[in-house]
Amino acid sequence: MAAFSESEIDDFGARAEAMVNALAKISAEPNRLVRLFLSPEHRRAADQVAAWMRDAGLDVSEDALGTVRGRLDGEKRLLIGSHIDTVIDAGKYDGPFGVIAGILAAEHFVRAKRRLPFGIDVLAFGDEEGSRFPATLASSSACAGVFRSENLRLADRNGVTLADALQAYGKSPDEIPTAAYQRGEAAAYVEVHIEQGPVLETRSQPLGVVTAIIGQTYLNMEFLGEAGHAGTVPMLLRRDALAGAAEAMLLGEKLARETKGEVVATVGRMAVAPGAANVIPANVVVVFDIRSGPEAARAKLADALKAGVREIADRRHLGLTITSTREVGTTPCHPHIQDALADAVRALGVEPLRLGSGAGHDGQAMAKLCPIGMLFVRCRGGISHNPMEYASPRDLGLAVAALIGFIERFEPASLTAR
Ligand code: GLV
Ligand code: MN
Ligand code: MN
Repeated sequence: MAAFSESEIDDFGARAEAMVNALAKISAEPNRLVRLFLSPEHRRAADQVAAWMRDAGLDVSEDALGTVRGRLDGEKRLLIGSHIDTVIDAGKYDGPFGVIAGILAAEHFVRAKRRLPFGIDVLAFGDEEGSRFPATLASSSACAGVFRSENLRLADRNGVTLADALQAYGKSPDEIPTAAYQRGEAAAYVEVHIEQGPVLETRSQPLGVVTAIIGQTYLNMEFLGEAGHAGTVPMLLRRDALAGAAEAMLLGEKLARETKGEVVATVGRMAVAPGAANVIPANVVVVFDIRSGPEAARAKLADALKAGVREIADRRHLGLTITSTREVGTTPCHPHIQDALADAVRALGVEPLRLGSGAGHDGQAMAKLCPIGMLFVRCRGGISHNPMEYASPRDLGLAVAALIGFIERFEPASLTAR
């Protein structure tokens, strides 16, 4: 097993930070980080990642969903990945650091000329945030062989469908099945990611081993009212779609608060039409993001919310359409992968805290293909999905060293079918 000196860990950290900063410069907007799936910025980031993979000695290819793959030969494959798309006004570590950690770890074995008893694929996915199309995890779902072709019809805010966006990116939707790994080919999927929450910082630990990734349900609710003059229509005669949506939003907040932390519910996006200050809103779409570890608690809240919102719409004489655009189950991390990650962390003199993930990750799709595991890195203030996101170079370096230690310990045969 490699034992790393302080300066080697610092070197990993400095290189990782420089690469994170380089990717953060690739944005659709000059003053904030926005890098959407299949956008010109996704293309540039993918090219940068491919160049780093080649420099690291990996064979590079790109699949039908635009996932960049850096390969080290071997029959059974250990998949290491994360995503290079971002939310709107993003931090720079969420996603890119996991890809970079994979590249630096793979490079370590190339440079040391150490042949492993398995191959490695470093994967840079393009659709983990779901910031462009209503569904998410398209890239990892394709790798896992569970891509839903009906999602090709989903449109972004400009009416461009996923099928059209793929074609504009130079891909053919017909080739999506070729992105899938063969069953048995992938031994495991492992991802390094910033925690995006405060647990590690609160416990003064740089690294943590993830036990499970929380499940999520997305409900799109469209309220249909009637446009009218803001000055002339009496209050009791209005069919105000936005007032109905606002009541629904507060109901979601109330129901989630009543679960006392078991379920969280968020409305982060609302589209109001026609969207003029002096016109009664006629059409409003809100998207509820509902998350919880226990599946039953999430389903119960979603059912209560739907029933309550139907009552609100009836009372306000509004049309209502509810569609579920995303349903991702709570996903456990494989116990053997957890233990191997914990051993690798402990070998660095760090206490391997175990914790759940409240954020969604590509591992939720990859778990349909093979056992998964995740390593978390402390981030300042637990802040994420925010340009203030920060992880120290020291912690990044420790995470790269731990990933290398995990790869050294990894035994595909230890992962029996779950
Ligand atoms: C992605 O970061 C998500 O959890 O929505
Ligand atoms: Mn992420
Ligand atoms: Mn994210």
